[in-house]
Amino acid sequence: MTAPRSHGRIAVRLSSQPSDLMGPPEVAGAWTAQVVTLFPEAFPGVLGLSLTGRALSQGLWNLRTVDLRPFGEGRHRNVDDTPAGGGAGMVIRADVMARALDEAAAGAAGRALPVIYLSPRGRPLTQARARQLAQGPGVTLICGRFEGVDQRVLDAYGVEEISIGDYVLTGGELAAQVLIDATVRLIPRVLGNQDSLAEESFSPDNGGLLEHPQYTKPAHWEGRAIPEVLLSGNHAAIAGWRRDMAERLTKERRPDLWRAYEQTRMDPAKDRQLSGASDQSRDRREHEKD
Ligand code: ADE
Repeated sequence: MTAPRSHGRIAVRLSSQPSDLMGPPEVAGAWTAQVVTLFPEAFPGVLGLSLTGRALSQGLWNLRTVDLRPFGEGRHRNVDDTPAGGGAGMVIRADVMARALDEAAAGAAGRALPVIYLSPRGRPLTQARARQLAQGPGVTLICGRFEGVDQRVLDAYGVEEISIGDYVLTGGELAAQVLIDATVRLIPRVLGNQDSLAEESFSPDNGGLLEHPQYTKPAHWEGRAIPEVLLSGNHAAIAGWRRDMAERLTKERRPDLWRAYEQTRMDPAKDRQLSGASDQSRDRREHEKD
């Protein structure tokens, strides 16, 4: 990497990596996702579309990929080897990953970004964790392939492991895009209407419940009508109906969220103590109880 060039408020960092040069210019100080991957061409992927894509080109956030391959060993730039103790598949080498992480840290312009490894073994990704990450300077994400990454590099670099669900993907690239999408949309000005954040599923303003059903025109469709209350103009009745539906859906579909909601209803002080930055720990406690 060469020194950043300044174009007004936009600092453009020149790099030997074609994927960097093809992306939008980087804005110094904006929330930054760095992704260590064997498939840099998988990015920005869906993140280049719609609201996240517009925000990327507006410089509301930066995306940088670090190709793992050039850090590999030997003429073939091998990044993996067989698992110690035997077994199927291949494991990404600690030394190779460490070199890539050092390059990522050097590219972060002195900002210490949390390092997260996307893995089915990680703690579940939550809205609370996305909120915390959105409030920080950004994130460095490790995308695994094969059987995983040598544990020593995860320990040495204090890497957090996050899963996007109880299923196994072929690699971490899709999971990284999920995490980035969930986080970037919480950065101020990325969503056109920030009010919608308060109403959506998992919002603390909504008691952490799932969101109520939505309807729009036409008023009658294939013999199905919009619930009358929504057309009544009675705002209190509409809010009551929405709350009832959110409670009913959450109770049916997510007993874990329902229990947490009931607890905070019984002891509202608990909710105040646990809101904001610490609701990740509430989620963790809930998760540990399950
Ligand atoms: N990599 C493979 N499977 C994954 C999952 N479920 N979550 C995050 N990263 C993964």
